[in-house]
Amino acid sequence: MSTTLEPPDTQKPGASHAVGRPISRVDGPAKVEGQAQFAAEVPVQGLTYATIVSSTIARGRLASLDVTAAQTAPGVVYVMTHENAPRFQPPALIRTQPRAAGASDLPIMQDASIHWNGEPIAIVLAETQEQADYAASLVRATYEEEPASLVFDDEIANARHPESILGEPPTIEVGGDVEAALRVAAVTVDRTYVTPRHNHCAIELHAATVVWDGDALTVHDATQMLGNTQWTLAQIFGLDERNVRILSPFVGGAFGGKGLWSHQILAIAASRASDRPVRVVLSREGVFRLTGGRTTTEQRVALGARPDGTLTALVHTGHAAMTSHNNCPEQFTFPARHLYAADALRIAQDVVDIDMIANTFMRAPGESIGTFALEAALDELAEKLALDPIELRRRIEPVVDPTSGKPFSSRHLLEAYRRGADAFGWDRRDPKPRSRRDGEWLLGTGVATATYPYYRMPGGSAQIVISADGSAVVRMASHEMGMGTATVQAQFAADHLGLPFERVRFEYGDTNLPAGTPAGGSSQSASIIAAVVATTTALVERLIPLAGPSSPLAGLQPSEVELRDGGIYATTDPGRGERYETILARAEQDEVSAEVPAPGPGEAQQFSMHSYGAQFAEVRVNAVTGEVRVSRFLGSFDVGRILNPKTAASQLRGAIIMGIGLALTEETLLDERSGRIMNPSLAEYHVPVHLDVPHIDVMWRDVPDPIAAGGVHGIGEIGITGVAAAIANAIYNATGKRIYELPITLDKLL
Ligand code: MOS
Repeated sequence: MSTTLEPPDTQKPGASHAVGRPISRVDGPAKVEGQAQFAAEVPVQGLTYATIVSSTIARGRLASLDVTAAQTAPGVVYVMTHENAPRFQPPALIRTQPRAAGASDLPIMQDASIHWNGEPIAIVLAETQEQADYAASLVRATYEEEPASLVFDDEIANARHPESILGEPPTIEVGGDVEAALRVAAVTVDRTYVTPRHNHCAIELHAATVVWDGDALTVHDATQMLGNTQWTLAQIFGLDERNVRILSPFVGGAFGGKGLWSHQILAIAASRASDRPVRVVLSREGVFRLTGGRTTTEQRVALGARPDGTLTALVHTGHAAMTSHNNCPEQFTFPARHLYAADALRIAQDVVDIDMIANTFMRAPGESIGTFALEAALDELAEKLALDPIELRRRIEPVVDPTSGKPFSSRHLLEAYRRGADAFGWDRRDPKPRSRRDGEWLLGTGVATATYPYYRMPGGSAQIVISADGSAVVRMASHEMGMGTATVQAQFAADHLGLPFERVRFEYGDTNLPAGTPAGGSSQSASIIAAVVATTTALVERLIPLAGPSSPLAGLQPSEVELRDGGIYATTDPGRGERYETILARAEQDEVSAEVPAPGPGEAQQFSMHSYGAQFAEVRVNAVTGEVRVSRFLGSFDVGRILNPKTAASQLRGAIIMGIGLALTEETLLDERSGRIMNPSLAEYHVPVHLDVPHIDVMWRDVPDPIAAGGVHGIGEIGITGVAAAIANAIYNATGKRIYELPITLDKLL
């Protein structure tokens, strides 16, 4: 049940109203017909196929590396190791420079040192993938092992305080001595929560097809950061950036995992050295060994409350595992900074260095697991207070951002709770655990808050071309990873330009287009829209003079017109204006275009900007086996203006499904003796399958954020937040057992 949407009230009369319509994805037909070419499908003459050989120790040095058998195996074209690899720079770490993309800044295959179990030690190129795989199996390595830091619990003693958490201070203290407030609080909850590592499991494996032409490099990549990859590769290989082209028109899921890892860089180096184009497609095991995911955390949430539920103290602290060569500290403390009012707050997190593959962003990094701890603790507090958990949230709703003091740009969390509770039937709940039973199944329901920040990234620039036939093309090196970018951006641009949806096309996925921004942090929709709005203004400033003195537009200022009905019209005189075709025909021009960078994202400096939601879960827990089934789920969201209810519902549902995996099944198992990932396959790393997923209701209030670009918030990531807590809270309601460690597998319930 997606809500039926009224057209947003920001619509202009006469506009085409593409925004808000459930338009099917424009890339859908190409995908179902097999016409869409992904990075591993681009046809190239003379292609070689790559296989990467991984280290089997966590830390130390290669003592010997024998590639003779591999070099003489059938079909082998080239074998590269640190001994013959060309010299190139390490990648600049993402966020250290505006367009850096590196997931790690370790040198790649430049010496004999080993930093994680799985690090590449050789890359084999052969005429077929099977030949490359076989030859790779013949590479023999011996090692001088060094002691490695692998046990998170042990290494917490050596934790370090990072300089920043994604540019934010790692520690925030408001309102004085929070521990003293806790000691005297009428009611307290003080718990430790543990969350495991996770790996990305996008359906499309990480892949790149690499072609050199002299000094010009073309990479067909599966990436969510085209421009950053272009800049970083130019730095690594000392190339003129204009000679580096990255194409990524289709990506089969990314979720934070498809950045710049070693496989693309090694394929590029090996291609140059062998003078052959290279295709590298990681195996599923390779994705686990060579690309990172979510990291493990230990979190403390302590709450002190008055008998009425208002908070005197809120503590959210803890540790996240990281490596010394990346900077992705899993910002699990971010939700607590913005969600609830408390007299005193202490929010802080440290990092623990582990010798493992660099961890990275993975669908709401931080927020997904931070809300598990915070929202499970609130559920426990509500029970102690004998308050309904939704009523507790009502009593601690802040007036302004609790840590920054900034006003909220748009916050409708309590309304999301009210609407969600009505639709879910929350009032029929018995708060007493173990009060509903169906045979050997115990039933329970739980609720939790979802939240994710509004981000808009700088550096994007859109080109808009209006042709003599009155159609428009918007061009920007943006990303379509299956979420509907190409569709919803054509919808937005159509309304903004006053054109029918069918007459607008969005071109993306190629660094030859004007600069896009990375598709991460659920920021891309707002980032593109800001550029389109800026460029449209420039286009109007060009079109009015172009229309000339005989046009009805003559004498009007850009501020006095609106775009609708396929052209430009005076705002106060609806009959005065003309269509784009007319303007271009009179001017005898085939097209008119403009390209303007988006203004910097200053809105987030002045306001606390976030999305919110209320997640409702019903579970059935088998009293005999401990098996958990999610039997119903509803997410009620406050995510700004919805561009397309069909793609939005799909985004929100998809992330909720990832949340079910987070709650119940997903866990990357690291052998603490060797640092080797023990379950690098979909057979052993359990993502939810269809039978694990009930029908998921999603609903939203379509309220544009007046401060956000286009009124829009990103909606990719919020769906996963709060899900694990809602499920854990439902499991408590069903069984009377609170589980503080994810995933909640049946052994923990027996
Ligand atoms: Mo975002 S971590 O790219 O889902």
